[in-house]
Amino acid sequence: MSAANPLPGFSGAAFESDANELQAIFKALLSKVRTSIPVQVVAVTNDGGVAPIGYVDIKPLVSMVTGSLDAIAHGVIYNVPYLRIQGGGNAVILDPQVGDIGIAVISDRDISTVKASKAVSPPGSSRRHDPSDAIYLNSIISVAAAPTQYVRFFDGGIEVVSPTEVHIKAPSIKSEGDWAHTGSITASEDVIASGVSLVQHEHGGVARGGAMTSPPVVGYPGKSASFSANSPAGAEL
Ligand SMILES: [Fe+2]
Repeated sequence: MSAANPLPGFSGAAFESDANELQAIFKALLSKVRTSIPVQVVAVTNDGGVAPIGYVDIKPLVSMVTGSLDAIAHGVIYNVPYLRIQGGGNAVILDPQVGDIGIAVISDRDISTVKASKAVSPPGSSRRHDPSDAIYLNSIISVAAAPTQYVRFFDGGIEVVSPTEVHIKAPSIKSEGDWAHTGSITASEDVIASGVSLVQHEHGGVARGGAMTSPPVVGYPGKSASFSANSPAGAEL
């Protein structure tokens, strides 16, 4: 009685028949042509900083299988460039992280000289379809249960979520529509509401002197909206 097959997906029969010898030869040759492989990130040069595209070290996840049906894990592929959505000085910085499972495509020629020169170059060697010339694309299998920081596009709109901070920086920021905010708002400079300065505005109906006006009336709609006899006496924006 023969031993149990450790890899049920492999019969080994094709290699035992003379009639299939040619097929076996072609299969052996094609097995050297790597195209794309699932990999896991084991190291990355970048950590989300504002920096040029970095490199990852990746480990192929589908093991090699010997003629005797022994599975042998691949080694680590080092210094692999990864995909970033970038055009000129515009980019979405979303660096891979250790543990990510993604897809790597295998270049059909040696890309080492192009990686070094960033210009038209001859291949660095005669190797072809070699995993050493991998390029890491993006995650394909989630390791974490769900993202905790994300930009989400869905039927209800667009959502930007961070557990720490969302930082928007530009010389000028414009938005359209009504704002509904929960939480305090702090401004380092003046706020202008319908042409009225929050810092510099004055109140009418009071005699000049050292006296202070009362605090703003809660719920008072303001001068431009339904100013009526029900408004508090003397209240004026
Ligand atoms: Fe006021």
